[in-house]
Amino acid sequence: MSDRVPVGVLVSGRGSNLDALCAAAAAPDFPARIAAVVSNRRGAGALEIAGRWGVTAAVMPVSEYGHDDAARDRAMRDRLLGAGVRLVVCAGYNRILTDEFLAAFPDAILNVHPSLLPAFGGGMHAVEDALEHGVKLTGCTVQLLEPGLPDGGAIVLQRAVPCLDEDDAESLRERIHVEEWIAVPEAVRLWCEGRIRREGRVLRIDPPRGVAGGRLSQAESCP
Ligand code: GRF
Repeated sequence: MSDRVPVGVLVSGRGSNLDALCAAAAAPDFPARIAAVVSNRRGAGALEIAGRWGVTAAVMPVSEYGHDDAARDRAMRDRLLGAGVRLVVCAGYNRILTDEFLAAFPDAILNVHPSLLPAFGGGMHAVEDALEHGVKLTGCTVQLLEPGLPDGGAIVLQRAVPCLDEDDAESLRERIHVEEWIAVPEAVRLWCEGRIRREGRVLRIDPPRGVAGGRLSQAESCP
């Protein structure tokens, strides 16, 4: 597919979601290509994964920008725009992006979170919190990032994972990851095929049209 949407991926950790996305993008009919990876951590395993897939990766720790998140996010925005990126995926990115960054990619930043939002949003302990609350079902959510709403953006899709009596955080996290590896590429596909339609804060998924639109569909127009 020649008109594949250039995607930028932000990472901080081991990069298993990046791996899943790169694997999906290796299929000839996938409507996206990974144009850039940026990590805010030097030691992130995701960097090695990017290298394995032959994807350009940059390390942009905030310490190199005078510990100024706004300055780093501006540089990151410029790098992604310079690479032609149209869709950004936060795949285990552990910082809150500035509004200025979000404004550069309106309705075009996907984030994956390891819970069924709005449950257990707003932190880095969603898996532990689910166990502590004794919920019987948790999962993962892919959402659009919106200014002022960390973990509160419109939901693209969710996949459920049962909590088992014998689960600890590690075992539950692993099973949630397996669902994320399906959800993230699927959400990217939906976005790139223009099948995500916005109705206020609710996103509807249109059936396949066989046309790669690479943006939200017309009816989505944000209020
Ligand atoms: C995922 O569980 C994601 O939901 C959370 O961070 C984790 C990243 O995992 N935001 P990985 O680095 O993709 O393996």
